[in-house]
Amino acid sequence: MQLDLDFIRRQFPSFEVPSLQGKSFFENAGGSYTCSQVQDRLFRFYRERKVQPYAPYEASRLGGEEMDEARMRLAAMLGVETDELSFGPSTTQNTYVLSQAVAQWLEPGQSIIVTNQDHEANSGPWRRLAERGIIVKEWCINPETGLLDIQDLKSLLGNDVRMVCFPHCSNVVAAVNPVAEITALVRAAGAYSCVDGVSYAPHGFPNVDSLGADIYLFSAYKTYGPHQGIMVIRRELGMSLPNQGHYFNSDSLYKRFTPAGPDHAQVAACAGMADYVDEVYAHHFDAEAAPAERCAQVHDLFRAHEVLLAQPILDYLLAKNSAQLIGPTSAQDRAPTIAVKLQIPGEEAAKKLAPFGVMAGGGDFYAVRPLQAMNISPEHGVLRLSFVHYTGPKDVDRLLSALDHVL
Ligand SMILES: Cc1ncc(COP(=O)(O)O)c(C=O)c1O
Repeated sequence: MQLDLDFIRRQFPSFEVPSLQGKSFFENAGGSYTCSQVQDRLFRFYRERKVQPYAPYEASRLGGEEMDEARMRLAAMLGVETDELSFGPSTTQNTYVLSQAVAQWLEPGQSIIVTNQDHEANSGPWRRLAERGIIVKEWCINPETGLLDIQDLKSLLGNDVRMVCFPHCSNVVAAVNPVAEITALVRAAGAYSCVDGVSYAPHGFPNVDSLGADIYLFSAYKTYGPHQGIMVIRRELGMSLPNQGHYFNSDSLYKRFTPAGPDHAQVAACAGMADYVDEVYAHHFDAEAAPAERCAQVHDLFRAHEVLLAQPILDYLLAKNSAQLIGPTSAQDRAPTIAVKLQIPGEEAAKKLAPFGVMAGGGDFYAVRPLQAMNISPEHGVLRLSFVHYTGPKDVDRLLSALDHVL
């Protein structure tokens, strides 16, 4: 089964917008286009339900139901219970709140493990726990390859370790880490895992239950949705960590780590991501299937399409002496978030690509630690070419011919 690209692109109004014609979008790791299913729900909420939800009048009842629907359907897709999923303003804020809870839960002398492959969102808030007497151990990448080695994690794990924070996939290295293997090791050592899925989830929503993560985070504005952070916390850990919300809501798992009042409209609009996955599934497959199974099939469709498109870009960059490709050379082993170090700063390269209709970004992408670990100065930065399943062969052709002019 192949992805029907025309069908896919019809789901994204941005492809119809006159100002975006003749352009190819290669900064998807910064934020994706939004599917029409999400836009329609957001518009409907603002127009018809912009009232305090959960009150006993029709507009409010419907608004509350749409918010609940979003949580229920996304949780089902991800293979977790409805109340194990919550919405916060962003992943950075979600990890910040979690780190405050973990700080209250740990005792001085206990340890956590962080990596230097993570985006700062899943790194800085955890590292700051050192100021409160927590021992923070660093699982370091190989400076040549940017990869994490599981043997190194094994030597860091011990009775003192309570939490291990790591990325499903880094936003500059892009290697897909073996999450299920890592979480099994972490659990066997008596610790919990916190996985940053922000750079992975746009390439197909994962089954969080199969991954074995105790916490799994991603950002809906990169998965075709509105600007929300989505956080899964499995019940056992979530009910053990100190509540960070209002005291009278402490029995509601999904309210325990989201102290800000929810953005009603955006939460409700998140159900549009589930609509989108279901519509993609229905267009490509006949068989009835449960939400997590539909999601898995769509994940594999996206992934196969992306792998096919990514390899020529990787091969092209590998053949250029002026470009240092970051991360795995095989598309199978990585997300199509392709960072390259060039002789010119990353931002300058991105600027040069723009007149050729290539929308890309350059800089450090808040992945300051991984870049520094690979001896790349954040000021010089990298050019990042990131795409998702709605990208087509014509976009890749445009990119490669633009790169011919710029590299
Ligand atoms: C890998 C990764 N983690 C975390 C974040 C932070 O997400 P948010 O913008 O939702 O705080 C980003 C944002 O770019 C990211 O790429």
